[in-house]
Amino acid sequence: MRVLVAGGAGYIGSVVTAGLLAAGHEVTVLDDLSTGHADAVPSGATLAAVSLHDSAPVLADVRPEAVLHFAAKSLVGVSQQRPHEYWDTNVGGSLALLEAMRAADCRRIVFSSTAATYGEPESVPIREDAPTRPTNTYGASKLAVDHMLTSYAVAHGFAAVSLRYFNVAGAAYGLGERHATETHLIPIALEVAAGKREALTIYGEDYPTPDGTCIRDYVHVEDLADAHLLALSAPAEGEHRIYNLGNGTGFSVQEVVDAAREVTGHPVPVVVGARRAGDPAQLVASSDLIRSDLGWAPRHTDLAGIVRDAWDVARTRA
Ligand code: UFG
Repeated sequence: MRVLVAGGAGYIGSVVTAGLLAAGHEVTVLDDLSTGHADAVPSGATLAAVSLHDSAPVLADVRPEAVLHFAAKSLVGVSQQRPHEYWDTNVGGSLALLEAMRAADCRRIVFSSTAATYGEPESVPIREDAPTRPTNTYGASKLAVDHMLTSYAVAHGFAAVSLRYFNVAGAAYGLGERHATETHLIPIALEVAAGKREALTIYGEDYPTPDGTCIRDYVHVEDLADAHLLALSAPAEGEHRIYNLGNGTGFSVQEVVDAAREVTGHPVPVVVGARRAGDPAQLVASSDLIRSDLGWAPRHTDLAGIVRDAWDVARTRA
């Protein structure tokens, strides 16, 4: 299939691009390189370095049969301080992309949504029919695009899938996380192990969890790529599906730190700090729906394996 990957120079988009190429698809990456890296775009894909707002000429030229849309701003804290950037890129940019698709007669899309659309969960594991009450602008902006897709499916016959990621981690095809501003737990733990940071701050150890630290559902980026390939052809025209993507198992911050120590063989000094605003105690996905509908089955469910893959790529880059 001829596909356009918006945000294909970022962490998840570049891994999925590599997966699409390996499966024989023809890929154009559209990315403004504001947070992505041109050298992360796998060779074999063509790069159009433009923003979502300027995507129409690229779609008119490429005439893709499907779009995978990863391009977004994704820092929860920044979304609270500079919300206009999140509404502009995540919502305005997505609207421009959907209109460019309509103009190019392309109606198939897989969208990167997020667990942040649910906000503080009433119960875990979180199912797709849980209430969506985002607690930050990032989650709200992603939820707005989910609603956009539902209306485009109804009004314009779009065949759409929103994949709501939980905590994406690990590495594949030699591609891993590489953010100018790193906020995610596993990359930070590995930077401490590598001696690039002195210590990791655990944001609170007084949560109502067995060891007092927050529990998250870490899903391997390669399993995520599998899900995108399955989702690509799943919906019929006029259908918008929403699936959670997680392993269904939660690991605590302390367990991640222990795994980083074990995998790297280095000490990972920690200091215990205050809770980070807006962090729910536990976020674990129910992925039953995508497993039963699409036959998705994660292959990398072991935490140490996920951390090891991230470590191997981070070390190679260093
Ligand atoms: N944490 C620390 N110290 C750190 C970094 C993180 O203790 O230095 C903790 C956090 O408090 C949290 C856990 O590690 O309990 C995971 O934090 P991350 O920042 O790695 O990930 P989040 O769970 O906050 O965020 C992820 C995605 C977001 C998405 C959110 C959904 O990265 O994009 O899940 O709620 F919005």
